[in-house]
Amino acid sequence: MSPIISVSGLSKTYASGFTALKSINLGIKPGEIFALLGPNGAGKTTLINIICGIANASSGEVLVDGHDIRRDYRTTRSLIGLVPQELHTDAFETVWATVSFSRGLFGKPKNPAHIEKVLKDLSLWDKKDSKIVTLSGGMKRRVMIAKALSHEPQILFLDEPTAGVDVELRKAMWDVVRTLRASGVTIILTTHYIEEAEEMADRVGVINRGEIILVEEKAALMQKLGQKRLKLHLQGKIDAVPTPLAAYNLELAGDGTELIYTYDTRSEHTGITSLLSDLRAAGIRFSDLDTTQSSLEEIFVSLVRA
Ligand SMILES: Nc1ncnc2c1ncn2[C@@H]1O[C@H](COP(=O)(O)OP(=O)(O)OP(=O)(O)O)[C@@H](O)[C@H]1O
Ligand SMILES: [Mg+2]
Repeated sequence: MSPIISVSGLSKTYASGFTALKSINLGIKPGEIFALLGPNGAGKTTLINIICGIANASSGEVLVDGHDIRRDYRTTRSLIGLVPQELHTDAFETVWATVSFSRGLFGKPKNPAHIEKVLKDLSLWDKKDSKIVTLSGGMKRRVMIAKALSHEPQILFLDEPTAGVDVELRKAMWDVVRTLRASGVTIILTTHYIEEAEEMADRVGVINRGEIILVEEKAALMQKLGQKRLKLHLQGKIDAVPTPLAAYNLELAGDGTELIYTYDTRSEHTGITSLLSDLRAAGIRFSDLDTTQSSLEEIFVSLVRA
């Protein structure tokens, strides 16, 4: 299947001289949920804004459904809905007026039935006559989503959709996104949260310092992120890992005073219980233990080093 969005050789250097994106290549498949995961300042918003035609690239090309975003701006923009990271709405308009007005901006004929459906899907129907200024932050965020969906886009960008949103609303928003995907909308979202990518995405792209360092099916990435290390601080020093413990692939560290066991938190049996009893049987005593989970940061580091 040919990608619905195709980004090639995309670079961005801001007027300040700072290079925020370095030769990005990325294809988004029609109908998928793609999560762009990366730390603050990685270039997520810059990339999204360029794909949506809001910011200009310094070089490279973006095709949306086969159309160049610069040459065919109106066509491509009408295919896209964008929920920006920064919320800004007309505070004194009503929900209904704001969302209807957004549709008009794309030159689409009025369609009150569609607006009604969008507001109902986002649990905003009972707020349709309320002024935006009277809504809570989470409601405002949903109004932004409603605006982005007002013109029936095929592609929806959500830039940090759940930043500052409570757990309950976050789950409700995930449901909305899933419903949209089921209706055939392609979704690209950015997030800092591994859990969010895990919950939502079909594929995950990791971006760091303006470079896409990995694009993978979610399941494969989560396996890498699921690795945990158990470190045992031994009471005495050992020269080698005793042979009966070979199957655990233990690593001897700290000059023979530490044993490190790596396991997958997602597997049914982590092997920790049997490791501890086999250690005892081998006469190895430990004074303390701690576990560390490979963080996104560590994955970045190991990817960048590789
Ligand atoms: N208008 C601008 N002029 C100069 N530098 C900019 C501009 N906008 C963004 N940058 C820089 O580009 C880099 C990428 O910023 P961007 O907003 O794309 O990151 P992000 O991944 O969206 O981060 P966050 O997770 O904090 O939203 C940052 O170092 C930022 O300071
Ligand atoms: Mg951002």
